Amino acid sequence: MSDKIRLQKFLAQCGICSRRKAEEYIQQGDVTVDGVIIHEMGVTVVPGISEVSFKGKVVAEKEPPVYYLLNKPRGYVTTLKDPQGRPIVTALITDCPLRLFPVGRLDFDTEGALLLTNDGNLAQKIQHPSHITDKTYEALVRGNPNDSALQRLEKGVMIEGKMTSPARLRRLAKKGGNTLVEIVIHEGRKHQVKKMFAHIGHPVIALKRTAYGKLRLGKLGIGKYRLLSSADINRIFL
Ligand code: URA
Repeated sequence: MSDKIRLQKFLAQCGICSRRKAEEYIQQGDVTVDGVIIHEMGVTVVPGISEVSFKGKVVAEKEPPVYYLLNKPRGYVTTLKDPQGRPIVTALITDCPLRLFPVGRLDFDTEGALLLTNDGNLAQKIQHPSHITDKTYEALVRGNPNDSALQRLEKGVMIEGKMTSPARLRRLAKKGGNTLVEIVIHEGRKHQVKKMFAHIGHPVIALKRTAYGKLRLGKLGIGKYRLLSSADINRIFL
């Protein structure tokens, strides 16, 4: 159960006013606790239990915004429900009591960087076309795409009647008869990376997102997550 806190502090935490202003409101009789008008200072409340009203309207504490970076394993869906009963990414965040949702999506068989938050504003900002957030992927593709094939992807290719925006690509390594390629895109069309490589005849065998903007996955293990700081969040938009 939550601890008791002073009524003024509670009103401030709910974003109603400053603690000092709250004292004025309390003295004026604008605040009730469990239906009783409070005039004196020193009253305490239990967030989530006491019903506090300000000028006749119940006030509720805002959830603090939280941001996690998860290294999504393959075999998880990034929706909040799955009609086929497959595992859901939010189940991997085991120590957060708040309702989180993933920002954007990764395919069931894609692994790597996935942001989860309860902050709808940030989620919207990241996905809005006016905030060009680069997303970096490592794609293991079949065969050895030559320079001209990679340049076609850099310039843009026609996928489902629409050109893809310019992308940046570089070969990272040859793996047997296949190639590991880094690709940076800022769109988020469904299955975009897979469709782009399929378009040049080098289908994706395995896909991993390694960064959102300059926020990199780093050494975070598969299935592991970390809480992000505001400096981390700023890196997304660099
Ligand atoms: N592009 C894809 O094809 N799949 C993903 O999961 C992400 C980007």
